[in-house]
Amino acid sequence: MTAVGIHDLAIATAHHVVGLADLAARRDVDPGKYLVGLGQESMSFPAEDEDVVTMGAAAARTLLHRTGADGVRWLLFATESGVDQSKSAAVYAHRLLGLPPSVRAVELKQACYGGTAALQTALGIVHRDPAERVLVIAADVARYALHSPGEPTQGAGAAAMLVSADPALLEVEPVSGVATADVDDFWRPNDASTAVVDGRLSVSAYLAALKSAWDDHRARGGATASEIDRFVYHQPFTRMAEKAHAALARHVGLPDGERLGSGLEYNRRLGNTYTASLYAALAALLDGDDALAGRRIGLFSYGSGSVGEFFTGVVRPGYDAVRPRDEVTRALAARVPLSVDEYERLHAARPTGSADAVTRRVTDGPYRFAGVRSRARRYENTA
Ligand code: CAA
Repeated sequence: MTAVGIHDLAIATAHHVVGLADLAARRDVDPGKYLVGLGQESMSFPAEDEDVVTMGAAAARTLLHRTGADGVRWLLFATESGVDQSKSAAVYAHRLLGLPPSVRAVELKQACYGGTAALQTALGIVHRDPAERVLVIAADVARYALHSPGEPTQGAGAAAMLVSADPALLEVEPVSGVATADVDDFWRPNDASTAVVDGRLSVSAYLAALKSAWDDHRARGGATASEIDRFVYHQPFTRMAEKAHAALARHVGLPDGERLGSGLEYNRRLGNTYTASLYAALAALLDGDDALAGRRIGLFSYGSGSVGEFFTGVVRPGYDAVRPRDEVTRALAARVPLSVDEYERLHAARPTGSADAVTRRVTDGPYRFAGVRSRARRYENTA
């Protein structure tokens, strides 16, 4: 069977950053709760002229500059913070990226699982015709109410992946395990700009989905725990990945108390990026370890509501030569810090609706949201 998987991967984030030590001081919370208890250092925060389209297109632009768009027939855009109920974020990104009309564009949604739904769909498309390649974008802005328990787990960012035959980074193996259950742990009604969440239930639903998806993966003949060299998890906050790994270790009888030491670095600083989070974790793992060629990675994706999936991939030889290592670190360092007052002001400004408005220019990214004209969103290429 042709090897199919992730040929290249790029991460983008928002213009601003909020330090969690600053937020803890303002909320009168011991900083250890955010920095150690949740395992988060900072959270990216979008400027008023940024959204999932601008971040997603920025990640895809980096990737397409390296790989070109030859053979791309699909743009799959996963998000749970979409900008329109009908028109997909993919179509806006398609124009910004200068893709030809012969590339299909569509948006997918199932909370944070959407990125993996797009990846699995892309793998199927390439298996059908290995000459085709699929551009997958996963982008989100995680917004919770001010002063809520979820507030320190906000974040913003995007991952873009090129899925192809004979991939340079990760061959995704065909067996995977799935766990779908109707749970009210986290959702965002149409009239709300912040998520509604039952925090405790969301953590237990995540862990239940992990065990159930693992059991399904094993029942279908997937790799055993001892055949998997590294694990990466969806990271609503990085401590959640450590809790997940400990729970899986107990479930499958791996050595007790094992800690997860890799794949956490980017998400600690990005915050929750929902659909992109697992792929930011994968990027951190691949960037941070030179000895992964031929190693099997287990990936767990969780989207509240809920769908979980456990799947595996084998790192390709030469993967370490494919990606510029300091790309994400540079983007994280370039973010412009917000004071807590500035952050609260930006947070309180409701996301632009459908009334005509002009958006102030703030971002120095390659694309910006310019505002609404004749009730339609306008985006500009600024690069
Ligand atoms: N020093 C060190 N650690 C401290 C501390 C201190 N001073 N004070 C508290 N802690 C620890 C606590 O012991 C706890 O750790 P353990 O769970 O390991 O015991 C940790 O800090 C967090 O403390 P709490 O559990 O008291 O925190 P909380 O109840 O205020 O908030 C939360 C936690 C409910 C998860 C909240 O952040 C939240 O609602 N987040 C949004 C929902 C979410 O992220 N859910 C995750 C699963 S759902 C999912 O994955 C989908 C998705 O992306 C949303």
